[in-house]
Amino acid sequence: MLMELQLDQEEQASYTHKFFVMVQDRGAIVYRMGAGQYAVSENIIPDDPAREKEMNRLFDLIIRGIPDDLPETVAALCRSRLQHAVTELLGKTRLKALKITIETAASRLDMRAGSPLETEHPGQTRPSDDPPIEVRALQYQAQQPLFTFEQLVVPDALMEDLLSAVEVTRVERKVFDEWGLRTIQPFPHSALNFHGPPGTGKTLAAHAIAHTLKRSILVASYAEIESKFHGEGPKNVKAIFHAAEREQAILFIDEADSLLSKRLTEVTQGSEQAVNSMRSQLFICLQEFRGVVIFATNLVENYDKAFETRVRHLHFPLPDEHCRREIWRRHLVPQLPLAENVSIDQLAAYADDICGRDIRNAVIDAAVRVARYGKAQVELRDLIEAVERIKAARIAVKSHEGRS
Ligand SMILES: Nc1ncnc2c1ncn2[C@@H]1O[C@H](COP(=O)(O)OP(=O)(O)O)[C@@H](O)[C@H]1O
Ligand SMILES: [Mg+2]
Repeated sequence: MLMELQLDQEEQASYTHKFFVMVQDRGAIVYRMGAGQYAVSENIIPDDPAREKEMNRLFDLIIRGIPDDLPETVAALCRSRLQHAVTELLGKTRLKALKITIETAASRLDMRAGSPLETEHPGQTRPSDDPPIEVRALQYQAQQPLFTFEQLVVPDALMEDLLSAVEVTRVERKVFDEWGLRTIQPFPHSALNFHGPPGTGKTLAAHAIAHTLKRSILVASYAEIESKFHGEGPKNVKAIFHAAEREQAILFIDEADSLLSKRLTEVTQGSEQAVNSMRSQLFICLQEFRGVVIFATNLVENYDKAFETRVRHLHFPLPDEHCRREIWRRHLVPQLPLAENVSIDQLAAYADDICGRDIRNAVIDAAVRVARYGKAQVELRDLIEAVERIKAARIAVKSHEGRS
């Protein structure tokens, strides 16, 4: 239960259970009043310079206890993550001093078997102190779609699949609710997986689907869901589905490779364990979600059986010459001052290993240079040189990767 609340400074300090919820540029403090009771107070507007300064203040932290036998790169990463997390905590709580003990689950097991350490009360972190799912879901917000199908160029077969996925969703309501098919399948859902190389229009297509269905789109990447705080991932998965349902939004989960791939059976690391539990949660959410979920993946070597059959896979290839021509055409927008000599056929034939994103970037790069040098028009040469620069940058990255 959430309610609005006015508290003075002193009262605020007396509440020990507070959560901070940030939504894009705004935030709020949520207080736990009692079991199942939460109150929202104190809208934080980060523009407030005093507050911002307070939140960004640097603290002198002493981090002790990272095992000596860890490689220095890992230890450094660990230190910097702890530094970051604790600084944030201090900025938000204004605590004067604190001592945080971090231990692994394994060490707790040892402890229980042997002699219990001094002030350990396992009951201290009751699950009821965790913000309820509605509160956690506040950190995810849907947006209006940015692209339409007019902007997307893909092979005909793929376009047909995409449009039919849209149609299925459109008629679903009628078939399942009006015609009562929900009684035989309580959880109909449309889950799609867009897979293919980067820059081939997967994100664009997800926005286009949302636009056609007149829905908003909730975009989340795997990295965002997998919280830096251990064990939060599954809760975030749940919260994201909750937020999408709340806003009737199309849910778009980007970089979903590791989420959809086979469950690891011999789990040795905590991080693998974490992905496994996110995957289980995802599976539960997918079954119950009444809406459209779109995953985007570059490459999944081994799909988990559970997803393989429940998710419709659509492949986004690199554009062929015909598609490249249309992509160039859509990106050389009417207002752009183009010289007579710019031939879309020539551009399409010229570079055969570039994706749609390369084309977009080439157009932007060429236009910016032309504008900077005070030239009046974009010429064919400007566009070709821009493509060359993009390809050269790619080769440089590759050879760098090869070296390490
Ligand atoms: N198939 C395509 N049709 C039209 N434009 C494309 C296509 N693929 C990529 N683009 C251009 O590149 C941009 C980035 O593509 P994006 O959808 O983010 O690729 P992905 O999500 O597959 O990595 C798009 O906004 C668009 O300008
Ligand atoms: Mg993308």
